[in-house]
Amino acid sequence: MSAVITRAGVADAERLARLHAASFADAWDAPSIARLISGPGGFALIAAAPEGDEGFALLQCVVPEAELLSIGVVPAARRGGLGRALLARAARELSAVGADTMFLDVAADNLPAIGLYRALGFGDMSRRPRYYRGGIDAIVMRAGLAGIEA
Ligand SMILES: CC(C)(COP(=O)(O)OP(=O)(O)OC[C@H]1O[C@@H](n2cnc3c(N)ncnc32)[C@H](O)[C@@H]1OP(=O)(O)O)[C@@H](O)C(=O)NCCC(=O)NCCS
Repeated sequence: MSAVITRAGVADAERLARLHAASFADAWDAPSIARLISGPGGFALIAAAPEGDEGFALLQCVVPEAELLSIGVVPAARRGGLGRALLARAARELSAVGADTMFLDVAADNLPAIGLYRALGFGDMSRRPRYYRGGIDAIVMRAGLAGIEA
């Protein structure tokens, strides 16, 4: 993993939108991402390698709870530890401002993401039936920030 992870701001919304579109069919546009970052508790990270941007994470944190809104790694860089590194970095920075817990929603059929979250210590909290398009359930997961390590 040669990528360097840095905080992203509103000025990076176009980069984040490109990264989001590389991972999700239902892409979020740059203005929507800029609103999330500049809204209450908005927090974003970008992982950039010499070859270009490789991953991002977008969270909202209202102490003591952080919510993972979205995370993605470009297909060519997957399984190289970047997803884990992005979440560990977010956990470290948000702990430093007083958060202690992270929540997220994940589609029940998204096995790579569920694998990542379980590897980092997330546990299932509840299920939202048919929450996603196509009738897929959402699993709500939770982890203590102190347990999320790279
Ligand atoms: C989910 C995602 C961010 C993971 O990023 P990544 O950089 O590939 O993950 P990492 O390399 O850090 O993986 C860390 C651990 O997560 C688990 N994991 C990651 N990908 C996995 C897969 N395809 N299948 C099973 N477990 C997986 C493994 O335990 C892995 O550790 P290991 O490689 O030592 O076995 C990436 O697959 C992605 O961008 N997917 C598309 C977008 C998406 O679905 N985002 C989540 C929406 S809720």
